[in-house]
Amino acid sequence: MARESMTEMLQNARDGKYGVAAFNILDYSSFKVVVETANELEAPVIVQTSVKTINLWGYDAIASWYKELTKNASVPVALHVDHCTDLEVIKNCIKAGWSSVMIDASSKPFEENLEISRKVVELASAANVSVEAELGEIGGVEDDLIIEEEDATLADPAKAKIFCEELDLAVFAPAIGTAHGVYSGEPKIAFDRIEEIAKTTGVPLALHGGTGLSDEVFKKCIGMGCAKVNISTQLKHTYINSFTDFKKENPNLFEPVKFIEYQIKRLKNDVKENIILFGGAGKART
Ligand code: 13P
Repeated sequence: MARESMTEMLQNARDGKYGVAAFNILDYSSFKVVVETANELEAPVIVQTSVKTINLWGYDAIASWYKELTKNASVPVALHVDHCTDLEVIKNCIKAGWSSVMIDASSKPFEENLEISRKVVELASAANVSVEAELGEIGGVEDDLIIEEEDATLADPAKAKIFCEELDLAVFAPAIGTAHGVYSGEPKIAFDRIEEIAKTTGVPLALHGGTGLSDEVFKKCIGMGCAKVNISTQLKHTYINSFTDFKKENPNLFEPVKFIEYQIKRLKNDVKENIILFGGAGKART
C-alpha cells in the first residue's frame, strides 16, 4: 500500500538512523516528481502541502493527485499538511484523504499548545492519520507565519518530555536552532538539545529548515534521531529559477511544455540528491 501515514516509516527511519525526506510540493508536477523519484530510488517519502498550497488548488484536487500518483507506486508515500494552525483545515485534510497532519500551536503557552495538539491527536487517530506537533518556535518564514530570529525560542527538554508523554505523536518538532527560508549566516544548531530531546522523548524528531544546512549537519542530526527532514525553500527556488534560466537560454521560445520539462528535470535533481544524502534510498525495500 503506497498511501501510508508517517508512523511506521519514521519509526523505521529512527531505528535505522536515516532520514525520510519531506518535500513541500507546489503543484501536480512537483508532486509527481517527488513520488516518481522516490519510487525510482526505492525510498519512503513524505509529500507536504502548506496551507497556502491547499488554498490555491483545493483539498479534492490534491487528494486526487495523491491517489493517482501513488496508484502504482511501490514505496510508502505520506501526504502531510505542514505547519497548520487551524483545526478546520486539519479536519478538512483528514476528511479529504491526507494521511498525516501537523498542528503548529507553538506560539501558544505550553498548556494551550498541549491542549490543542491533544485535540488533533484525538481527531487524527480516529481516522488512522499520523500527527506532528511543535514545541518552541522555529525561526524564519513558513507560509504566512513569520518568526524573527530574535523571537525564535528553543524547545525546553523538560517540557518536551511532558509534551511527548502526553501526546501520541508520529514525529515531534522541537525548535533546535534551524530556521525556515535562507540562512543569512551560519545556523547555530543546538546539537546537545537534539540529543537530549531524542533520548528523553524516544519519539522520532522532525528537522525543520532543511534548506541551506550542510551535509555534515544533516548527517549529525539524522544520527541523533531526526527521522523526518523538511525541504521547502530549495524547491521553491528551483521551481522559479528553472523557468528564468531556461528563458535566458531560449529567449524566443514560447512552448510551455519545454519549460515544464526542464523544470521537472531540475526539481528531480534536487529531490534525488536529498533522498540520497539523508540515507533513504533503498530503505523501502525491507
Ligand atoms: P526550508 O524552507 O528551510 O527548506 O524548511 C522547510 C520546512 O521546515 C517546512 O516546514
